[in-house]
Amino acid sequence: MRVGIIGGSGYVGGELLRLLLAHPQVEVTTVTSRKDAGEFVFGIHPNLRGLTQLKFVPLDLSQIQESCDLVFTATPHGSSVNLVPGLLEIGVSRLVVLSAIDNIMKGAAGQGVQCLNVVLGVDERTGLQSTGFHPM
Ligand SMILES: NC(=O)c1ccc[n+]([C@@H]2O[C@H](COP(=O)([O-])OP(=O)(O)OC[C@H]3O[C@@H](n4cnc5c(N)ncnc54)[C@H](OP(=O)(O)O)[C@@H]3O)[C@@H](O)[C@H]2O)c1
Repeated sequence: MRVGIIGGSGYVGGELLRLLLAHPQVEVTTVTSRKDAGEFVFGIHPNLRGLTQLKFVPLDLSQIQESCDLVFTATPHGSSVNLVPGLLEIGVSRLVVLSAIDNIMKGAAGQGVQCLNVVLGVDERTGLQSTGFHPM
């Protein structure tokens, strides 16, 4: 499945990327950042050096539509609210919005992957090494 992350330069976006790059059923095609567009992802997330040659791109809904089967938003609350209608309008049929305030055990990225696995119809723990970081 081709996956895009809107807000990939942030904390949750970076952790989500780390998990998705190792996920057996996912190809990350698009990672957005407005400020860091054109930069290598590993320039912002040094832990991903050697794992990907992806670069951040600016948010472009038509590019998202062409390159993604599923989209995550890892943006601040208010931004997600504004982004979702546009994504639904272009026909994104699979969307996972990461906007929970709950910060217990820093689990937002793991919960996102868990949702992706439900969409894919595979075991919810696929790609998640540490079961302590996401609720089952
Ligand atoms: N941090 C945590 O521990 C944590 C835990 C649980 C849940 N969450 C939730 O996860 C979400 C992301 O949190 P975060 O801490 O990762 O935020 P963050 O570090 O501030 O990152 C936000 C990301 O969204 C992008 N962005 C900001 N405004 C945007 C807009 N209007 N349109 C498109 N992209 C935008 C930013 O890049 P550009 O500005 O360059 O585009 C950046 O990549 C939030 O809803 C938060 O409540 C966070």
